[in-house]
Amino acid sequence: MTTTHAAHSAEAPLQEHFDATIARDQRIEPRDWMPDGYRGTLVRQIAQHAHSEIIGMQPEGEWISRAPSLRRKAILFAKVQDEAGHGLYLYSAAETLGADRADLTRRLIEGRQKYSSIFNYPTGSFADIGVIGWFVDGAAICNQVPLCRSSYGPYARAMVRICKEESFHQRQGYELLMTMMRGTAAQREMVQDAVDRWWWPSLMMFGPPDGDSPNSAASMAWKIKRHSNDELRRRFVDMTVPQAEKLGVTLPDPELRWNEERGHHDFGTPDWSELQRVIHGDGPCNTERVERRRSAHEDGAWVREAATAHAAKQAARARKGAAA
Ligand SMILES: [Fe+2]
Ligand SMILES: [Fe+2]
Repeated sequence: MTTTHAAHSAEAPLQEHFDATIARDQRIEPRDWMPDGYRGTLVRQIAQHAHSEIIGMQPEGEWISRAPSLRRKAILFAKVQDEAGHGLYLYSAAETLGADRADLTRRLIEGRQKYSSIFNYPTGSFADIGVIGWFVDGAAICNQVPLCRSSYGPYARAMVRICKEESFHQRQGYELLMTMMRGTAAQREMVQDAVDRWWWPSLMMFGPPDGDSPNSAASMAWKIKRHSNDELRRRFVDMTVPQAEKLGVTLPDPELRWNEERGHHDFGTPDWSELQRVIHGDGPCNTERVERRRSAHEDGAWVREAATAHAAKQAARARKGAAA
């Protein structure tokens, strides 16, 4: 008991300094003392975010070899490559908190860490590429722009660059859909069909309703997160409705309408039981996505081994050079 008490009193000034930094809206940096709960929450959130970027390469990557033109192939290729980059920035941010990248990958493959529910849905047509850019990257922007002001420095800074690239992703998606909507009746049907399939899963990307989101309160108090799930979902709907009108598609929600009084749209309730199923491994593509990640990781083992051997050789050469 005495040691616990001593430890607590030693930590008190550190905790005070941490609280004051958060209250002043200043950044916590890797060298700073932080409470274990803050560190753990960040590692969980950043790892989940990194995993989402990497797993998110799969549903769209499947279409690179089937893109309808060289231009579309180049755009899609660049987009999927950007997502790999996002994953790498984020794993690096997690490493500044003491997390080990290999361990995070292992946790993902073993199903002990999650990634966004949205990437467990299949991409049935090339219109899905457009709708993913428009909805999924659009939702990512709603989520991530406030994270540029997150209290943890390396996470916030990673978000600034990521958000710039996400807005390119959203535009390429919308531009693809605009082109398809100017095309044949069959193309317009493909777009509407993709919108119908992706709308509700996209709303679920913001997570469960606020009353049902156990980690949100602490994340908001620590200013890791700046807005609640429901607030971000509302913003996404308000942002997307006029874009849908301009495009000429119908969002599949009969309850969707402008509420003059609130100055926001009213909209229906997503099927939360579906979200729970998908989060807990029972979505249309969960097994396939994780399996693909596992085999890619195993197939890439020789690259990691070669890079490690090369780095060791370089270091040995440098030592020899220094000694001579
Ligand atoms: Fe991304
Ligand atoms: Fe993206």
